[in-house]
Amino acid sequence: MPEPIDLEYDVAADDYQTAGEASSNLKETLKILGISSSVCRRAAVITYEAEMNLVIHGGGGRIIANIDEDKVEIMTVDRGPGIPNVELAIMEGYTTASDHAREMGFGAGMGLPNIKRNADIFEIETEVGVGTTLRAVIKL
Ligand SMILES: Nc1ncnc2c1ncn2[C@@H]1O[C@H](COP(=O)(O)OP(=O)(O)O)[C@@H](O)[C@H]1O
Ligand SMILES: [Mg+2]
Repeated sequence: MPEPIDLEYDVAADDYQTAGEASSNLKETLKILGISSSVCRRAAVITYEAEMNLVIHGGGGRIIANIDEDKVEIMTVDRGPGIPNVELAIMEGYTTASDHAREMGFGAGMGLPNIKRNADIFEIETEVGVGTTLRAVIKL
């Protein structure tokens, strides 16, 4: 890969129609770049779960992906409510999803655990009332 590639996507709050588009687009782009199918799959899980969290919890936000010869890095940035207890939020099954989100089939509480499992580096910076930044890196 001659040049690093940066991709950015805006994600709208509470829009279940378009939710998932950014992660599908990123997955296709990685395939076209010749990234291995296992890395594509891991990146797709990370991006999809992080995107849904922007939609459901974060009040919308931005996905930033950097692809270079030794890593795929996926970040999300939002100015939503923040996460009061990150350790709790990362536990399997923990969710604060609304009844509406749950009726739509979301809110299993497995998003952050799945992101963590699929990433080589996983970091969350968050402040209540300010927003959340998530960073996940897959090493190539
Ligand atoms: N971007 C975010 N902004 C605010 N809260 C978040 C964000 N992402 C995750 N959370 C919190 O962490 C919890 C667990 O997230 P996750 O594991 O993806 O499960 P789910 O999305 O099914 O609730 C969420 O229910 C929410 O309370
Ligand atoms: Mg989630």
